[in-house]
Amino acid sequence: MTEEIKLSNRLLRVASYLPKGAIFADIGSDHAYLPCFVCQNDPTAHAIAGEVNVGPLSSAQETINKYELKDYVEARLGDGLSVLQQDEVNQVVIAGMGGSLIRSILENGQDKLLSVDLVIAQPNVDEKNVRNWFMENNFKIQDETILEENGHIYEIVVGKRVNYTITLTEKEQLFGPKLLTQKNKLFYKKWESEREKLIRVINQMQNAKFQDHHKLRKFQEQLGWIEEVLEDVNYD
Ligand SMILES: C[S@@+](CC[C@H](N)C(=O)[O-])C[C@H]1O[C@@H](n2cnc3c(N)ncnc32)[C@H](O)[C@@H]1O
Repeated sequence: MTEEIKLSNRLLRVASYLPKGAIFADIGSDHAYLPCFVCQNDPTAHAIAGEVNVGPLSSAQETINKYELKDYVEARLGDGLSVLQQDEVNQVVIAGMGGSLIRSILENGQDKLLSVDLVIAQPNVDEKNVRNWFMENNFKIQDETILEENGHIYEIVVGKRVNYTITLTEKEQLFGPKLLTQKNKLFYKKWESEREKLIRVINQMQNAKFQDHHKLRKFQEQLGWIEEVLEDVNYD
């Protein structure tokens, strides 16, 4: 009997959004821990682990071999969703990258998404890029999670395809429509720290010789939103 795969809390939470019997791609899979964990725990699931770099691809292959999952998980080398055939998967996971990279992977792989009704994204930064892509492509944000691991706060954003238009305000795109209604302790911790960072950036910009007034106004507007959101502390 092979050993059980242990996942970090972050990846466990990402995996929890996949339905039973998922047929999915994990793009930027690195060691392929997530697809191997899912397939080890659900023999009706199948996965493609996509990797753009050769080193992580061979780590993925090693994990697949070690846990004897070659009939369930296939590692493929390539950029983003280009590793997929059309109509091959129903769900896509993209975790552990910046939001702008996740957005461009989704944008460049539109033809591979026609059969996909669920995208689970875990951007490390710039989450609003992912929410904006979801909105523009009729993926409704079904759930969001904020969690802390090893001193870093992560967000998970889950988009479900719908056949109607979605609108999110700029504030919802920044803070997350679900996270904004929950506003838990971690949410406040994250945005307190973002507020400090933004104040420093604004001060530097104001003291600079040449000022980018447009950017400065955008940052000041964002600071206003953050302060507004932080005003009503209502978690228990
Ligand atoms: C920090 S790791 C995240 C691994 C895992 N998904 C996780 O969340 O722990 C990011 C991985 O994405 C891969 N990657 C970056 N850009 C990619 C792209 N355009 N297509 C596929 N993989 C990519 C990198 O090679 C790296 O292995």
